Amino acid sequence: MNGHANIVVFGASGRMGQAVIRAILESDKARLACALVRPGSGLAGEPLERVFGSLPRAIDFSTALDPDTPCDVLVDFSGPHAFDAALALAVQRRAAFVSGTTGLREEQHGALAHAARTIPVLWAANFSLGVAMLLRAAKRIGAALPDWDCEIVEMHHARKQDAPSGTALALGQAVAEGHGAPLHERAVFARHGQIGPRKSGEIGFAVLRGGDVVGEHTVLFSTEGERLEIAHRATSRDIFARGALAAAIWIAHREPRMYSIDEVLAPEEI
Ligand SMILES: NC(=O)c1ccc[n+]([C@@H]2O[C@H](COP(=O)([O-])OP(=O)(O)OC[C@H]3O[C@@H](n4cnc5c(N)ncnc54)[C@H](OP(=O)(O)O)[C@@H]3O)[C@@H](O)[C@H]2O)c1
Repeated sequence: MNGHANIVVFGASGRMGQAVIRAILESDKARLACALVRPGSGLAGEPLERVFGSLPRAIDFSTALDPDTPCDVLVDFSGPHAFDAALALAVQRRAAFVSGTTGLREEQHGALAHAARTIPVLWAANFSLGVAMLLRAAKRIGAALPDWDCEIVEMHHARKQDAPSGTALALGQAVAEGHGAPLHERAVFARHGQIGPRKSGEIGFAVLRGGDVVGEHTVLFSTEGERLEIAHRATSRDIFARGALAAAIWIAHREPRMYSIDEVLAPEEI
Protein backbone atom coordinates (compact mmCIF):
# COMPACT_ATOMS: atom_id res chain seq x y z
CA MET A 1 0.00 0.00 0.00
CA ASN A 2 1.25 3.47 -0.84
CA GLY A 3 0.68 6.25 1.69
CA HIS A 4 -2.18 6.36 4.14
CA ALA A 5 -5.45 4.47 4.06
CA ASN A 6 -8.23 7.04 3.78
CA ILE A 7 -10.84 5.92 6.28
CA VAL A 8 -14.46 7.00 6.59
CA VAL A 9 -16.02 6.21 9.97
CA PHE A 10 -19.75 5.42 9.94
CA GLY A 11 -21.48 5.72 13.34
CA ALA A 12 -18.90 8.31 14.36
CA SER A 13 -20.89 9.60 17.35
CA GLY A 14 -21.09 6.16 19.01
CA ARG A 15 -18.84 4.67 21.68
CA MET A 16 -17.00 2.50 19.15
CA GLY A 17 -17.05 5.15 16.42
CA GLN A 18 -15.27 7.57 18.77
CA ALA A 19 -12.74 4.92 19.81
CA VAL A 20 -11.97 4.18 16.13
CA ILE A 21 -11.55 7.89 15.38
CA ARG A 22 -9.13 8.19 18.33
CA ALA A 23 -7.14 5.22 17.01
CA ILE A 24 -7.00 6.73 13.49
CA LEU A 25 -5.81 10.08 14.84
CA GLU A 26 -2.97 8.31 16.67
CA SER A 27 -1.96 6.24 13.62
CA ASP A 28 0.67 7.20 11.05
CA LYS A 29 -0.74 4.69 8.52
CA ALA A 30 -4.31 5.95 8.37
CA ARG A 31 -6.07 9.23 7.72
CA LEU A 32 -9.57 10.16 8.86
CA ALA A 33 -11.31 11.21 5.64
CA CYS A 34 -14.78 11.76 7.07
CA ALA A 35 -16.75 11.11 10.28
CA LEU A 36 -20.34 10.19 9.40
CA VAL A 37 -23.23 10.54 11.84
CA ARG A 38 -26.93 9.74 11.59
CA PRO A 39 -29.04 12.21 9.59
CA GLY A 40 -30.58 14.57 12.14
CA SER A 41 -27.76 14.06 14.62
CA GLY A 42 -26.98 17.11 16.74
CA LEU A 43 -23.28 16.49 16.09
CA ALA A 44 -23.56 17.20 12.32
CA GLY A 45 -21.31 20.14 11.42
CA GLU A 46 -19.48 20.05 14.74
CA PRO A 47 -15.69 20.15 14.37
CA LEU A 48 -13.94 17.05 15.69
CA GLU A 49 -11.66 19.32 17.68
CA ARG A 50 -14.52 19.88 20.12
CA VAL A 51 -14.38 16.20 21.05
CA PHE A 52 -10.76 15.29 20.41
CA GLY A 53 -8.71 18.46 20.91
CA SER A 54 -6.36 19.91 18.28
CA LEU A 55 -6.12 18.10 14.93
CA PRO A 56 -3.80 18.37 11.91
CA ARG A 57 -6.74 19.51 9.81
CA ALA A 58 -10.36 20.34 10.47
CA ILE A 59 -12.93 17.60 9.88
CA ASP A 60 -16.57 17.99 10.81
CA PHE A 61 -19.02 15.34 11.85
CA SER A 62 -21.04 15.01 8.66
CA THR A 63 -24.27 13.29 7.61
CA ALA A 64 -23.22 12.67 3.98
CA LEU A 65 -20.07 11.64 2.16
CA ASP A 66 -18.89 14.22 -0.36
CA PRO A 67 -18.12 12.54 -3.74
CA ASP A 68 -14.69 14.20 -3.70
CA THR A 69 -13.73 12.81 -0.29
CA PRO A 70 -11.24 9.98 -0.73
CA CYS A 71 -12.51 6.73 0.76
CA ASP A 72 -10.36 3.58 0.71
CA VAL A 73 -12.16 1.93 3.62
CA LEU A 74 -15.48 2.50 5.34
CA VAL A 75 -15.45 1.39 8.99
CA ASP A 76 -18.91 0.73 10.44
CA PHE A 77 -19.83 0.37 14.12
CA SER A 78 -23.49 1.36 14.15
CA GLY A 79 -26.49 -0.94 14.53
CA PRO A 80 -28.68 -3.28 12.45
CA HIS A 81 -30.94 -0.38 11.38
CA ALA A 82 -28.07 1.71 10.04
CA PHE A 83 -25.96 -1.15 8.69
CA ASP A 84 -27.65 -1.42 5.23
CA ALA A 85 -26.90 2.24 4.49
CA ALA A 86 -23.27 1.78 5.55
CA LEU A 87 -22.76 -1.24 3.29
CA ALA A 88 -24.53 0.45 0.35
CA LEU A 89 -22.23 3.46 0.71
CA ALA A 90 -19.10 1.27 0.64
CA VAL A 91 -20.34 -0.59 -2.46
CA GLN A 92 -21.27 2.69 -4.18
CA ARG A 93 -17.79 4.12 -3.48
CA ARG A 94 -16.03 0.81 -4.32
CA ALA A 95 -14.39 1.10 -0.90
CA ALA A 96 -13.36 -1.77 1.36
CA PHE A 97 -15.88 -2.41 4.14
CA VAL A 98 -14.91 -3.22 7.74
CA SER A 99 -17.83 -3.74 10.11
CA GLY A 100 -18.18 -4.75 13.75
CA THR A 101 -21.92 -4.14 13.96
CA THR A 102 -23.65 -7.01 15.75
CA GLY A 103 -27.27 -8.16 15.95
CA LEU A 104 -27.43 -8.41 12.15
CA ARG A 105 -30.21 -10.46 10.53
CA GLU A 106 -29.39 -13.44 8.34
CA GLU A 107 -30.16 -11.50 5.16
CA GLN A 108 -27.73 -8.78 6.25
CA HIS A 109 -24.97 -11.38 6.52
CA GLY A 110 -26.08 -12.50 3.03
CA ALA A 111 -25.72 -8.92 1.80
CA LEU A 112 -22.14 -8.87 3.13
CA ALA A 113 -21.31 -12.00 1.12
CA HIS A 114 -22.94 -10.47 -1.96
CA ALA A 115 -20.99 -7.21 -1.56
CA ALA A 116 -17.75 -9.21 -1.27
CA ARG A 117 -18.04 -9.97 -5.00
CA THR A 118 -17.25 -6.33 -5.76
CA ILE A 119 -15.44 -4.94 -2.69
CA PRO A 120 -13.15 -6.33 0.04
CA VAL A 121 -15.29 -7.09 3.10
CA LEU A 122 -14.35 -7.94 6.68
CA TRP A 123 -17.04 -8.37 9.34
CA ALA A 124 -16.16 -9.56 12.83
CA ALA A 125 -18.26 -9.94 15.96
CA ASN A 126 -15.15 -9.05 17.92
CA PHE A 127 -11.91 -7.31 16.90
CA SER A 128 -9.76 -8.31 19.88
CA LEU A 129 -6.78 -10.64 19.59
CA GLY A 130 -7.72 -12.29 22.90
CA VAL A 131 -11.17 -13.21 21.59
CA ALA A 132 -9.64 -14.56 18.35
CA MET A 133 -7.65 -16.93 20.59
CA LEU A 134 -10.72 -17.73 22.71
CA LEU A 135 -12.67 -18.69 19.58
CA ARG A 136 -9.93 -21.08 18.46
CA ALA A 137 -9.69 -22.64 21.93
CA ALA A 138 -13.50 -23.03 22.15
CA LYS A 139 -13.59 -24.85 18.82
CA ARG A 140 -10.75 -27.19 19.76
CA ILE A 141 -12.18 -28.00 23.18
CA GLY A 142 -15.65 -28.53 21.66
CA ALA A 143 -14.11 -31.01 19.22
CA ALA A 144 -12.06 -32.77 21.91
CA LEU A 145 -14.86 -32.94 24.51
CA PRO A 146 -18.12 -33.22 22.56
CA ASP A 147 -19.87 -35.03 25.46
CA TRP A 148 -19.17 -32.27 28.01
CA ASP A 149 -21.98 -29.78 28.69
CA CYS A 150 -21.16 -26.40 27.15
CA GLU A 151 -22.58 -23.11 28.44
CA ILE A 152 -21.66 -19.59 27.34
CA VAL A 153 -22.05 -16.63 29.70
CA GLU A 154 -21.63 -13.03 28.61
CA MET A 155 -21.92 -9.67 30.38
CA HIS A 156 -22.09 -6.20 28.82
CA HIS A 157 -22.98 -2.62 29.76
CA ALA A 158 -26.60 -1.70 30.40
CA ARG A 159 -27.08 0.08 27.06
CA LYS A 160 -26.21 -2.85 24.79
CA GLN A 161 -29.04 -3.45 22.31
CA ASP A 162 -28.64 -7.05 21.14
CA ALA A 163 -28.50 -10.34 23.08
CA PRO A 164 -26.73 -12.66 23.25
CA SER A 165 -23.72 -10.67 22.08
CA GLY A 166 -22.33 -11.32 18.61
CA THR A 167 -19.20 -12.68 20.30
CA ALA A 168 -21.23 -15.14 22.42
CA LEU A 169 -22.93 -16.37 19.24
CA ALA A 170 -19.55 -16.68 17.49
CA LEU A 171 -18.28 -18.72 20.47
CA GLY A 172 -21.38 -20.95 20.23
CA GLN A 173 -20.73 -21.33 16.51
CA ALA A 174 -17.11 -22.32 17.22
CA VAL A 175 -18.14 -24.97 19.78
CA ALA A 176 -20.89 -26.28 17.46
CA GLU A 177 -18.32 -26.56 14.64
CA GLY A 178 -16.14 -28.52 17.06
CA HIS A 179 -19.15 -30.77 17.76
CA GLY A 180 -19.74 -31.12 14.02
CA ALA A 181 -23.32 -29.83 14.30
CA PRO A 182 -25.13 -26.64 13.24
CA LEU A 183 -25.51 -24.13 16.09
CA HIS A 184 -29.25 -23.66 15.51
CA GLU A 185 -29.80 -27.34 16.41
CA ARG A 186 -27.82 -27.00 19.66
CA ALA A 187 -28.47 -23.48 20.96
CA VAL A 188 -30.71 -22.87 23.98
CA PHE A 189 -31.31 -19.16 24.54
CA ALA A 190 -33.80 -19.21 27.45
CA ARG A 191 -34.60 -21.39 30.45
CA HIS A 192 -37.54 -20.65 32.72
CA GLY A 193 -39.95 -22.78 34.77
CA GLN A 194 -40.17 -26.59 34.73
CA ILE A 195 -37.75 -27.17 31.89
CA GLY A 196 -36.62 -30.68 32.89
CA PRO A 197 -33.08 -32.02 32.67
CA ARG A 198 -30.49 -30.57 30.34
CA LYS A 199 -30.33 -32.33 26.99
CA SER A 200 -27.01 -33.78 25.91
CA GLY A 201 -25.25 -31.66 23.26
CA GLU A 202 -27.08 -28.42 24.14
CA ILE A 203 -25.10 -25.18 23.97
CA GLY A 204 -26.70 -22.86 26.52
CA PHE A 205 -26.45 -19.06 26.52
CA ALA A 206 -26.79 -16.79 29.58
CA VAL A 207 -26.88 -13.01 29.27
CA LEU A 208 -26.03 -10.46 31.97
CA ARG A 209 -26.42 -6.70 31.57
CA GLY A 210 -25.34 -3.87 33.84
CA GLY A 211 -23.24 -0.79 34.46
CA ASP A 212 -20.37 0.02 32.11
CA VAL A 213 -18.99 -3.49 31.47
CA VAL A 214 -17.15 -3.35 28.12
CA GLY A 215 -17.49 -7.08 27.40
CA GLU A 216 -16.92 -10.35 29.27
CA HIS A 217 -17.31 -13.87 27.87
CA THR A 218 -16.87 -17.24 29.58
CA VAL A 219 -17.23 -20.65 27.94
CA LEU A 220 -17.82 -23.44 30.46
CA PHE A 221 -17.36 -27.14 29.68
CA SER A 222 -18.72 -29.37 32.47
CA THR A 223 -18.86 -33.08 33.13
CA GLU A 224 -19.23 -35.34 36.17
CA GLY A 225 -16.64 -34.21 38.74
CA GLU A 226 -14.90 -31.43 36.80
CA ARG A 227 -15.42 -28.18 34.93
CA LEU A 228 -13.20 -26.30 32.49
CA GLU A 229 -13.69 -22.54 31.98
CA ILE A 230 -12.07 -20.26 29.44
CA ALA A 231 -12.78 -16.54 29.66
CA HIS A 232 -11.99 -13.16 28.13
CA ARG A 233 -12.55 -9.80 29.79
CA ALA A 234 -12.28 -6.55 27.87
CA THR A 235 -11.60 -3.53 30.04
CA SER A 236 -11.32 -0.96 27.24
CA ARG A 237 -13.08 -0.44 23.89
CA ASP A 238 -9.71 0.64 22.50
CA ILE A 239 -8.75 -3.01 21.89
CA PHE A 240 -11.67 -3.38 19.44
CA ALA A 241 -10.88 -0.02 17.85
CA ARG A 242 -7.20 -0.92 17.37
CA GLY A 243 -8.17 -4.30 15.87
CA ALA A 244 -10.67 -2.65 13.52
CA LEU A 245 -8.09 -0.06 12.47
CA ALA A 246 -5.48 -2.78 11.85
CA ALA A 247 -8.09 -4.57 9.72
CA ALA A 248 -8.91 -1.37 7.81
CA ILE A 249 -5.25 -0.62 7.00
CA TRP A 250 -4.64 -4.27 6.06
CA ILE A 251 -7.70 -4.59 3.78
CA ALA A 252 -7.50 -1.15 2.13
CA HIS A 253 -6.22 -2.14 -1.30
CA ARG A 254 -6.93 -5.87 -1.43
CA GLU A 255 -8.94 -7.85 -3.95
CA PRO A 256 -12.70 -8.08 -3.47
CA ARG A 257 -13.62 -11.06 -1.27
CA MET A 258 -14.71 -11.88 2.25
CA TYR A 259 -11.81 -11.69 4.72
CA SER A 260 -11.72 -12.86 8.34
CA ILE A 261 -10.26 -11.09 11.37
CA ASP A 262 -8.07 -14.14 11.95
CA GLU A 263 -6.21 -13.34 8.73
CA VAL A 264 -5.31 -9.91 10.15
CA LEU A 265 -4.71 -10.51 13.84
CA ALA A 266 -3.42 -14.05 14.12
CA PRO A 267 -2.77 -15.77 10.81
CA GLU A 268 -0.56 -18.40 12.46
CA GLU A 269 -2.25 -21.56 13.74
CA ILE A 270 -1.73 -22.20 17.47
N1 LIG B 1 -17.01 -6.16 16.70
C1 LIG B 1 -16.56 -5.60 17.83
O1 LIG B 1 -15.38 -5.79 18.23
C2 LIG B 1 -17.49 -4.73 18.62
C3 LIG B 1 -17.08 -4.13 19.83
C4 LIG B 1 -17.95 -3.28 20.49
C5 LIG B 1 -19.21 -3.04 19.97
N2 LIG B 1 -19.59 -3.66 18.80
C6 LIG B 1 -20.88 -3.39 18.14
O2 LIG B 1 -20.75 -2.15 17.47
C7 LIG B 1 -22.04 -1.53 17.39
C8 LIG B 1 -21.97 -0.13 17.99
O3 LIG B 1 -21.67 -0.24 19.38
P1 LIG B 1 -21.53 1.07 20.30
O4 LIG B 1 -21.31 0.59 21.68
O5 LIG B 1 -20.54 1.99 19.68
O6 LIG B 1 -23.01 1.67 20.16
P2 LIG B 1 -23.48 3.18 20.22
O7 LIG B 1 -22.62 3.95 21.16
O8 LIG B 1 -24.95 3.13 20.46
O9 LIG B 1 -23.22 3.73 18.74
C9 LIG B 1 -24.03 3.42 17.63
C10 LIG B 1 -23.79 4.45 16.58
O10 LIG B 1 -24.56 4.18 15.40
C11 LIG B 1 -25.15 5.41 14.99
N3 LIG B 1 -26.34 5.26 14.17
C12 LIG B 1 -27.54 4.75 14.52
N4 LIG B 1 -28.39 4.82 13.49
C13 LIG B 1 -27.70 5.41 12.46
C14 LIG B 1 -28.01 5.75 11.12
N5 LIG B 1 -29.25 5.50 10.61
N6 LIG B 1 -27.05 6.32 10.33
C15 LIG B 1 -25.82 6.56 10.82
N7 LIG B 1 -25.47 6.25 12.10
C16 LIG B 1 -26.40 5.69 12.89
C17 LIG B 1 -25.49 6.09 16.29
O11 LIG B 1 -25.76 7.46 16.07
P3 LIG B 1 -26.63 8.32 17.15
O12 LIG B 1 -25.82 8.29 18.42
O13 LIG B 1 -26.72 9.65 16.52
O14 LIG B 1 -27.95 7.61 17.27
C18 LIG B 1 -24.19 5.85 17.05
O15 LIG B 1 -23.19 6.74 16.62
C19 LIG B 1 -23.00 -2.49 18.13
O16 LIG B 1 -23.60 -3.33 17.18
C20 LIG B 1 -22.06 -3.27 19.05
O17 LIG B 1 -22.58 -4.52 19.40
C21 LIG B 1 -18.75 -4.47 18.13
